[in-house]
Amino acid sequence: MANLNTGERLVSEAATEARKLPTESDNWIKPLLHKSQKAKEFAYCPYSKFRVGAALVAHDGTVFTGCNVENACYNLGLCAERTAITKAVSEGYRSFKAIAIASDMEEEFISTCGGCRQFMREFSGKWSVFMTKPDGSYIDMLVEDLLPVSFCTDDLKKKKASSGST
Ligand code: THU
Repeated sequence: MANLNTGERLVSEAATEARKLPTESDNWIKPLLHKSQKAKEFAYCPYSKFRVGAALVAHDGTVFTGCNVENACYNLGLCAERTAITKAVSEGYRSFKAIAIASDMEEEFISTCGGCRQFMREFSGKWSVFMTKPDGSYIDMLVEDLLPVSFCTDDLKKKKASSGST
């Protein structure tokens, strides 16, 4: 199990190897975390006053950032993660290495909401989510560990009872 204050991962080292999670020596991690913190500065959150930033890195290293974008019609608000993912997908990217998420909470790692977990899962369960604190510490988990037993696109193709064909 992880030591939450040092940013160690939440899955075993053996599992880490098997899944090829990023390691501390991967030099793109720190810049990615920094970009998520910068993205937070654009947060539009007049209602919650809770700023969130995200930085998403695609398979080829391209980074897309996002912030939360709230609305007077509260339920239309967008999370930072979904903003970043939507930007990436709308520019032709569907394969991702990791997403970093930043907030202003000093003593807690920002977590990612259930809706965003499902949104991430759409594009595979085997990529990393870095949940950070403003001091740069983080925990990282795979999407599939954040959303176990998930429903995904493959389920739509599975055998159905005949009444399911209508
Ligand atoms: N928020 C995010 O942007 N990402 C999350 O994973 C958690 C919550 C935003 C949504 C809303 O604008 C504000 O934080 C308070 O919930």
